[in-house]
Amino acid sequence: MKIAARLKAVKPSPTFAMAAEAAALRQQGRDIVDLSVGEPDFDTPEHVKAAARDAMARGLTKYTPIGGLDVLKDAIVEKLRRDNALAYSRAEVMASCGGKHALYTAFLALFDEGDEVVLPAPYWVSYPDMLVLAGAVPRVVETTAAAGFKMSAAQLEQAIGPRTVAVILNSPSNPTGAQYGTEELRALGEVALRGGLIVITDDIYERLTATPVPHLGTLVPALRPDLVVVNSVSKSYAMTGWRIGYTAAPAELIRAMTVLQSQSTTNPTSIAQAAAAAALTGPQDSVDTMAREFTQRLALMVDGLAAIPGLCTPRPQGAFYIFPDASAFFGRRGPDGPIATAADLAMYLLRHVGVATVPGEGFGAPAHIRLSYAASRTVLEDGLVRLGRALAALD
Ligand SMILES: Cc1ncc(COP(=O)(O)O)c(C=O)c1O
Repeated sequence: MKIAARLKAVKPSPTFAMAAEAAALRQQGRDIVDLSVGEPDFDTPEHVKAAARDAMARGLTKYTPIGGLDVLKDAIVEKLRRDNALAYSRAEVMASCGGKHALYTAFLALFDEGDEVVLPAPYWVSYPDMLVLAGAVPRVVETTAAAGFKMSAAQLEQAIGPRTVAVILNSPSNPTGAQYGTEELRALGEVALRGGLIVITDDIYERLTATPVPHLGTLVPALRPDLVVVNSVSKSYAMTGWRIGYTAAPAELIRAMTVLQSQSTTNPTSIAQAAAAAALTGPQDSVDTMAREFTQRLALMVDGLAAIPGLCTPRPQGAFYIFPDASAFFGRRGPDGPIATAADLAMYLLRHVGVATVPGEGFGAPAHIRLSYAASRTVLEDGLVRLGRALAALD
């Protein structure tokens, strides 16, 4: 069958090969320590599930307005005010089927063919491909572990060319856990403002940090006409399967995105909308409990990885990922042959000690592997022992 040319430039998710191999090994009865997951290992809070059950009982099972029910829009407005000190109105927010869909819809609504978008690397795997699908060109800015995997204001300034229209900031970051500090954010915002850039902030991990920072929108208020705030209930409320994300932006963009959404998914699931509204406005203690637990696991991972010779592990500040440089092992030999890349190393770790990780290539960081600590401490301790054993066994 003929497949559209636009798919030629798009790669499937790089986690796919690892996930498929891990699933195959599990089916053979192998005991796999999965450090590849991108979702909290906590359950959705009970009051959120109750809101979904109640929505069903009330017959909230039909189409809703395209950008979401008023109750959800009001919850988003309230959340942005409470957590971020950002003032948006109903007309300036909308819900989509997950943060990913919110980002994709925003990209389609914002970018023309050939528009350049600054993307600091390491980046979340989906940004480049979603940008390419929208006709935009990722303008990748390399960051270093020494700089905490953060793009400086000077780097942003240098990256701006005649076709650059936007920059994407994801803090705390997937895959590095790096989080911009207040002054770093302010400096980036001022450069973006001078350069006339649209700033897209992907705030999906904002609550999973021990050290919250003010939102860019409050640090550089003049950016507001060009600010696009994307967030989701997926990670903060352990609701990845519910598929509710949201955007706050000038009404003009929200109107354009609503037109696009009306011709693609219509509305996000009605029942999940009710659950998301309850998550955003109900008790927030589950978020704090989860964030505290992640902070303790982070300490466990930092200490555990530091004790493994050859791995060089920058300390993350948030989210639930840690991103060691494993390039010291490239050129060594495993039982299946030479380890030349992060993908080879990740496959070796999976096959020989049953530890699933994600190789760094897809994140634009081929020297690294990503480990998720969204797993119990017992699992993490087991994973660290296996990792140490596997790496020590390489010739
Ligand atoms: C940086 C980042 N942004 C957005 C998303 C999308 O999440 P969701 O579509 O579940 O809201 C993810 C998911 O892994 C992510 O890591």
